[in-house]
Amino acid sequence: MEFDGKYVLISGASRGIGKATAMTFAEKGAQVGINFRSNREKAEKTLSELPGKGHQLFQNDISQESETKKLIDAFVSHYGRLDILVNNAGISIFHEIDKVDFDHWTHAWQSTFQINLFAVANLCYWASKAMMKTGGGRIVNVSSRGAFRGEPTKPAYGASKAALNAMSQSLAKKLAPHNIYIGVVAPGFTETEMAAETLTPTERESLLRESPFQRMAQPKEVAHAILFLASEGAEYTSGTIIDVNGASYLRS
Ligand SMILES: NC(=O)c1ccc[n+]([C@@H]2O[C@H](COP(=O)([O-])OP(=O)(O)OC[C@H]3O[C@@H](n4cnc5c(N)ncnc54)[C@H](OP(=O)(O)O)[C@@H]3O)[C@@H](O)[C@H]2O)c1
Repeated sequence: MEFDGKYVLISGASRGIGKATAMTFAEKGAQVGINFRSNREKAEKTLSELPGKGHQLFQNDISQESETKKLIDAFVSHYGRLDILVNNAGISIFHEIDKVDFDHWTHAWQSTFQINLFAVANLCYWASKAMMKTGGGRIVNVSSRGAFRGEPTKPAYGASKAALNAMSQSLAKKLAPHNIYIGVVAPGFTETEMAAETLTPTERESLLRESPFQRMAQPKEVAHAILFLASEGAEYTSGTIIDVNGASYLRS
């Protein structure tokens, strides 16, 4: 898979899966726009680590509607076109129905959907307008295994990712005639820096047992699936959801 001459925008690319995706696209010749919300130091570090030239930071809080248009406008004004958008940024908040008060409950639902679904819908809106002007493009949305198997401690997270899958499939149908192809990647637990820092040894052990591989996904493995969906020749996969969960949850 080569991406020479391609301009790629990745939301939430300063760390975790987004960073690994940015590194992999850059290794394959793409010029990458790294969107982040607040942690400039981390974003600058990621930018400095990317191989190749012409990469750029874009600081926009995509939970704000107006920022989604600003982000796409800034990217297109910088590079002249947008070939590939990866909607990676997402959040998850614990809100167990039998433990939290109502304010916590409503806050969790609103803020989770604002980023995991509405921000993605808004970025798809502005990105598809830009892509139509240049003859097409590709969008890859990062979902989760939680969309399929249930998330008892974070129900808004599971619901937002299930809605993201449905939205992606609707848009795949609508945008194919415009040469815009949509793919979805649904990772299981992935060993990001945050996972390494926040998991207790017991939690880690139990997560490892979920997969017959006896390990979590590496961010690079998720990036590999994202690049496949965005690659030349993968057009007819539009509407597909690729699981990257180490056979921990198999759906029919
Ligand atoms: N890690 C897993 O185990 C796992 C499993 C399944 C699915 N996923 C999905 O994979 C995606 C990436 O997860 P991750 O664990 O790699 O993420 P992460 O390490 O928590 O990184 C989140 C990134 O998103 C950015 N971000 C958060 N809110 C934003 C906003 N409002 N506007 C712009 N950027 C924002 C952060 O920027 P700042 O640092 O500046 O805030 C950061 O770059 C998410 O959609 C997640 O749901 C992850």
